[in-house]
This record gives sequence, C-alpha cells and structure tokens, in this order.
Amino acid sequence: MSFFSCCVSQEKINKNSSKRSSKDFNHTKALPSLSNICFKTDNSKRKYIEEELARIGQGNITSQIFSYHELCAATRNFHPDNMIGEGGFGRVYKGRIKSINQDVAVKQLNRNGFQGNREFLVEVLILSLLHHPNLVNLVGYCADGDQRILVYEYMVNGSLEDHLLELPPNRKPLDWRTRMNIAAGAAKGLEYLHEVAKPPVIYRDFKASNILLDENFNPKLSDFGLAKLGPTGDKTHVSTRVMGTYGYCAPEYASTGQLTTKSDVYSFGVVFLEMITGRRVIDQSRPSQEQNLVTWAQPLFKDRGKFTSMADPLLRGNYPRKGLYQALAVAAMCLQEEADTRPMIRDVVTALDVLAKRHVQRTQETGECSEKTNMKRAERTT
Ligand SMILES: Nc1ncnc2c1ncn2[C@@H]1O[C@H](COP(=O)(O)OP(=O)(O)OP(=O)(O)O)[C@@H](O)[C@H]1O
Ligand SMILES: [Mg+2]
Repeated sequence: MSFFSCCVSQEKINKNSSKRSSKDFNHTKALPSLSNICFKTDNSKRKYIEEELARIGQGNITSQIFSYHELCAATRNFHPDNMIGEGGFGRVYKGRIKSINQDVAVKQLNRNGFQGNREFLVEVLILSLLHHPNLVNLVGYCADGDQRILVYEYMVNGSLEDHLLELPPNRKPLDWRTRMNIAAGAAKGLEYLHEVAKPPVIYRDFKASNILLDENFNPKLSDFGLAKLGPTGDKTHVSTRVMGTYGYCAPEYASTGQLTTKSDVYSFGVVFLEMITGRRVIDQSRPSQEQNLVTWAQPLFKDRGKFTSMADPLLRGNYPRKGLYQALAVAAMCLQEEADTRPMIRDVVTALDVLAKRHVQRTQETGECSEKTNMKRAERTT
C-alpha cells in the first residue's frame, strides 16, 4: 500500500532497526529445541521442569528460581488485597522481593484452569532466551511441588486494556500521541520476534490485555505461553491447534489452523483499531451490526468521509486528522482477509514510527492546541 512507501520516503528510516538487540541474540541457539517440549502424565514434577529448562535452555536460563516460601513472603501469603488481575493462567499479585529490592507481579497457575505445564515452560524459555525493551522481563519462576508461578517485573500502569476499554470514570483516557507510541513499541516487540529471533517466534496472543505499560506508558508484550516457533526452510506456515483469543485471531488461522507471522499482523491490526476507536473487538453491549469491530469497520475503511466518526469519542477530536487517516490505513492493511497482502511487521513499525514522530514535531512547533483549533488545523492539512 502506498502509505508505507510514502512514509519511507518522508522519513530517514533507521535501516538497522530490525537488528536491534541482536547482541542478546546468541542465546536463541536454544530456541529450536522449544518445539520438542513434551509431557508425559507423570512429568509434572519440579525436577522434570528443571531438567527440561536445563536441556532446552542449554545453560542460558538467566531467570531466578524462587521458593514458594519466598513468594508467600513477597505477596503477604497471596493476600486478596495484593491481587491485581486474573486471566486464563491464574491470578496475578503485586509483590515485593526484599532480597533483590524489586516490585514484581507474581502470576500463580490455577491448577483447575485450561493452561498448564507446557505454557509455563514455554513462557520461562521464551522470556529467558529473548530480550528486548518491548518484551516484559521475567525475573524468575517457582516450580515447587505442584506450584507453577511466574515472577515478572512489575508494570506500574497495568495493561493497555485497563486504559483503553471500559475506562473507570476517574481514569484519564490515553491521548493520541501516547496511543501511537504504544502501537509503535508493541509493533517493535513483534518485529523482534518475527525478524530477529531465529527461527521466528509467532506470538499468537496479541491483544490489549497482554500489552503492559511501564511508568512512562512504554509498552511491553507479555504472556508467551501460546507462542509458537515459525516455519523454517521452504515452509510457509506451521500447522497447529487453533489457540488464542476470539476476535483477535486471523481468519485463515481460525479456519485452517495454518499459522504464519501474518496471523500476528492481523491481531496487531485488531488491537490498533481498538486503540483508534476505543471499541472492544467483540462488544455484545452494542447494536448487533456494531458488535464485531472488524465487521463494523470494513465498510467505513472505504469511505473517507466516515473516518472521523471512527475515532474514539474520548479523544474529543484531539488528534491530527491526517494522522487518523494514516493510522486507519495501517489498520486496514493489517486486517486484510488475504494473509499475503498484509504488510510485514517491519513495514508497520516504519509507518507507526513516522506517525508517532510527526505528532511530536507538530505539537512542538505549535504547542498543544484546544479541541477546536486542532480540528481547524486538521481541516487545513487534509
Ligand atoms: N507484569 C505485570 N505488571 C503489572 N500488572 C500485570 C502484570 N502482568 C499482569 N498484570 C495484570 O494482571 C492482569 C491479568 O493478566 P493475565 O495475563 O493473567 O490475564 P489476561 O491477559 O487478562 O488474560 P489471558 O489469560 O487471556 O492472557 C493484566 O490485565 C494486568 O492488569
Ligand atoms: Mg495476559
């Protein structure tokens, strides 16, 4: 699509961007062994987990091993007041580990839940072997007895979902610039997985609740339990059980189980559209024709006159109109039905970097503007 080439010509692109963090990358020699993880029924023992980590991680596992006792002390015995969230894996607690003087998020596997040992191992391995500023840092884990607990760096601002969808009345909505920065950073995390990791890693669970935000609203991807190694050699896809979250899954993956990095690009498009519109991908509280965000957006993508009606009302018109048009063009490209016609994630990074920077330049030149003047200025630039 022309937007990508137009962005590239307008900005001097840092050609080395996809090679970022490559110094960390020699650890990923161990990645190919990930696909060999297997579980026999009697294997859910700590010793087995430790042996698997040692075997697959080839001595590169840097995360610490915590005892259950240490994590009880860190979370006041997993006190309900320390609980900060709950997902498919289990409950998440805020804690503080005195020995390392660090706030952490402690995620305890729910033994009755759907996810289990395999997800636990994949998460520990991926986050121990791959490091990037836009991937959450795994501080350590605990596999005492039946316990499966993951210990992450604590992300002060929680998840993107907490700041975007069903906002509590006392929370300020994210402004346009922050949204573009978050989108650009999250795309960089995916770019690292797709283009730097060897073999590539397909994330498979890109959604707003898995994008965590630090104190400066920098995004970091979390939850790698569903991640899959991408195709190698001449193969174009990997075939696998359909996993992930309804609404975010690419159509070809949902219908055939054939997974490629373009499946992640589709999920990125869904989240980016949520960021632009402030609408949840599946929202049953809306009228029936608006319940599926992508189905609702498809006809609107073709009608420029409707673009401003797609913007999140909580932005109150405070966005550059041209930026909105271009952001919608990027989302539409990522959401194409045909996987081959979707852009590579590196092209998305390039486009979003331009969008994020352009807004900074404009506000630096003119100062922040009121809703009215912003709209007028936007009218003139389009
Ligand atoms: N490292 C972290 N720092 C701060 N908060 C976190 C951290 N990890 C998770 N959380 C909080 O816990 C919530 C639950 O996270 P979790 O990943 O368990 O579930 P989910 O993403 O909502 O659903 P799913 O299980 O489908 O991924 C998040 O939405 C976030 O608010
Ligand atoms: Mg999650």
